[in-house]
Formats: sequence, C-alpha cells, structure tokens
Amino acid sequence: MTDYKNKVQKILSLRETPPLCYLHSFGCQQNVSDGEKILGLLTEMGYGVTSDMFSADMIIYNTCAVRENAELKIYGLIGNLKHLKEQKPDLIIGICGCMAQQEQVVEKIKKTYKQVDLIFGTFALNELPRLVYDVLSERKTAVDITEYSAEIPENIKAVRSGSFKAGVPVMYGCNNFCSYCIVPYVRGRERSREPQAILDEIRELSKAGYKEIMLLGQNVNSYGKTLEKPVNFSELLRRINEIDGDFKIRFMSPHPKDATKEFIDTIVECDKICKHLHLPLQSGSNRILEAMNRRYTVEKYMEIVDYARSRIPDFSFSTDIIVGFPNETYEDFKGTLDVMRRVKYDNIFSFIYSKRTGTKAALIDDKTSDEDKGKWMRELLEVQREISTEFFKRFEGRILDVLFEAESKNVGWYNGKSDEFIIVEAKSDVNIIGQRKKVKITKAFNWALQGEIIN
Ligand code: 5AD
Ligand code: SF4
Repeated sequence: MTDYKNKVQKILSLRETPPLCYLHSFGCQQNVSDGEKILGLLTEMGYGVTSDMFSADMIIYNTCAVRENAELKIYGLIGNLKHLKEQKPDLIIGICGCMAQQEQVVEKIKKTYKQVDLIFGTFALNELPRLVYDVLSERKTAVDITEYSAEIPENIKAVRSGSFKAGVPVMYGCNNFCSYCIVPYVRGRERSREPQAILDEIRELSKAGYKEIMLLGQNVNSYGKTLEKPVNFSELLRRINEIDGDFKIRFMSPHPKDATKEFIDTIVECDKICKHLHLPLQSGSNRILEAMNRRYTVEKYMEIVDYARSRIPDFSFSTDIIVGFPNETYEDFKGTLDVMRRVKYDNIFSFIYSKRTGTKAALIDDKTSDEDKGKWMRELLEVQREISTEFFKRFEGRILDVLFEAESKNVGWYNGKSDEFIIVEAKSDVNIIGQRKKVKITKAFNWALQGEIIN
C-alpha cells in the first residue's frame, strides 16, 4: 500500500496546489465511518478535502444498498455528474460502499455511466492507493470489488466529520442473514476489532474533547466472538466506561437475539452509557419474524424491554420496523402496532419492505399489494404520532442532559439530543454547539421537546 501511496504522492506533488476531494456518505453510521477513513487515506496521498462538490478534483459517493430507493437516488446523482465531467474532463468520479460491492451494480455503472472512473467495494480500503494510481497514471477506469480476507484496516487515520461526536467501529460485517437484508452479502462475515485498538482510539477521542462516542457495528452485541481471546460486548462497554473524560457512550445497533440480562445490567450500571436502546423490532408478528429469520419472538423481545424498565422505569427505546414483508397480512401488521403500543418507543424508523436481489426474501412470491403496504405505513405513522404525543409529555418539568448539535431554524435557538435520543430545542444567546447542557423541559411536541437551559 505504501508503495502506491508514494507513487500517487509523487504525481500529485507536480501540481501547484493540492487537488481537492469531495466525499459524501449515504446510509448508516458505519458507512460514514468508512467515508472518514477513505478521506484519511486520500489526505495521506496528497488530496485536500472540500465540502464544495463543484470545486473538487475528485468526487466520491460512498453508497448504501439497504433499500432500492437509496440506490435509485444514487444512480440519479451519478447521472447528474455527466455534465460536470464534460466541463472538467480531469475530474475523477468514484463510487464506493455497499452498492459498489454488488456485481450487477458494477456492470450497470460500467455500461451506462461512463463518467465514473473508480469503483470499489467495502473490502477495498487497503487497495485504494493502487486504484487511485491506476486512474491518475493510465486514465482508465479502476474497479475493485473483490472480497478480501477478514483483515481490519487499523492503520488508517480517519478525517472525522464531527468535532464533538465520533463513530467508532467495534465490529464489521454480519452473520445473521435476515432474509430481507443485503448487508451480509455486501459487508461479509462478522469480524471484531481488538479491544485494545478500540480503547486506545476512544482514549484519544476523549482527550481531544469528544462528547459522544457511538460504537458501531451491524450487530454490536455479538462483538468479540471472532477474537482470539473472546471478550463480550458487555465487558467491552465496562472497559470503555472506565476511560477518563466527559463523554457519553451510545451504540448502534444491537440485535434482540443477543440482548442478555447482563447486557441490560451493564447499560444500567455504567454511568457514561445513555439509558436508551435502539432495539430493531422489524415486526411484531412471530410468523413474520420467523420468515425474516430474526431468531427471536415477540415474547422474548418484550422480556428485554420489561427487564430494562424494571431496572429503570424511564428506560427509553427506539426501533426499526419493516412494513409489508412479503405476504404480511393485516393481522401480522396489527401485531406490530400492538408491540408499539406496549413498548411506547420514543422514536421509530419505519421502512416499506424493499426487495433486494440475492436475498432469500426476494424469492418469495409476494401477494400483498403495494397499496396495502402504503396504507399500513400511514397507519403506523399515525399510531406512533399518538404514542409520542402522549409519551413525550412525561418529560414536561423534568431536567434532561442535552448535547447541542446545530442551530435551529428559529434564530437564537439550538437543537440537540437528550440521552434518551430525543430532539430538544432551547434558546441561547451564545453558541452552544458541541456542549452538553442541563435543560428543563417546558413543552412536549410529538417529534421533539422544548426547554430552558439551566446550566
Ligand atoms: N427493506 C426495507 N427495510 C430494510 N432494512 C434492511 N433491509 C431492508 C429491506 N430490504 C431496514 C431494517 C434495518 C434498517 C437498517 O433497514 O429495518 O434495521
Ligand atoms: Fe441485516 Fe439482520 Fe445483519 Fe441487521 S442483523 S445487518 S438486518 S442481516
């Protein structure tokens, strides 16, 4: 890798000013984290980073393949770059990430989108210098979507997109093969980072003043199984919790089948861990859960929720739900609404089922109509609106810890997330972005809370 890095550096050093790279990551936090590493590598090779696509010498889309509409959007964006490339023939256009890991996508890009110079999948980080060298030296399209060994790139320094929140991958890949999901096919088998590497990275982030660490993985609570000396996720969490610093810990996403009592106890007992769990339900029907190959039942899921709430009555939950899995009936769907009413999620990320070529579910002859799926989705959103309208009221008059992230649309107002992962808005005369504040909640809306900063 170093050899090609040097070769690229040499080519780029002939230019008067360093060329600029614009990179946009779509999809999940794991992808954002990969994007930060790609920028790290490009910086080492001599590229500068820009947030202005039109002044860039290299544009990279780091793509997501989880649903079809994410892919369609990216095809649209690649299409739009054709004109830019005509105006700037030296522009390098790269497509990477989960979409680029699929052969049929690569074929389509090569055939239809000739403006693309660089295509690389989720395993090719270590190969990036060679690919960039090929494009720069030969002006030919460079493609790499080979599935490499389980090697985790540890020596790449990320160019982080945030200065107070950081994503830290703890494991890569997924072994679960939920029948609807493309992830195990594009990100390979589960492999965990060594605990020492994770702890060192977080220690550094804490020293640099980061206020929130999000541990990342497709199935975080299956962490450690592939290590030579296995360490489970709860042990890892306890060791992270001991690191000095004024930061909180979140993680995304655990799988209900691997959620043990020990895991909930760890969250409850570690002061730095937010008392919020994003626990993907996907469906509230045991029949559909089985067809999805989720390997838990509604009863097992509710046991986790009830246990967490027995330890902390206000324990907060959010979830992912898929509406309209092949041959789902209204009865099945009502099971999902039922779980929503029992758990009272603070937040739901709901998706209409999207058929993904190569998955088991894609082979099912689906008799449920798109019209029904759309109708159910609207019903689900309405039910969740009612739940959160009522449930958010419990926060009125209470004091929450909020990490402020951005300016609101209203001048003089800022918004951030509480430990419960709820959006909170508050007024401030000074810029409070990146700071954690205590906020007394004065008003609950169905999507957010409003309050006054008390210190
Ligand atoms: N269709 C719709 N939603 C999906 N997800 C994953 N695969 C699909 C699919 N084929 C959703 C799941 C997952 C979230 C990240 O995306 O709810 O938890
Ligand atoms: Fe996909 Fe299931 Fe793995 Fe999540 S756990 S990435 S939904 S296969």
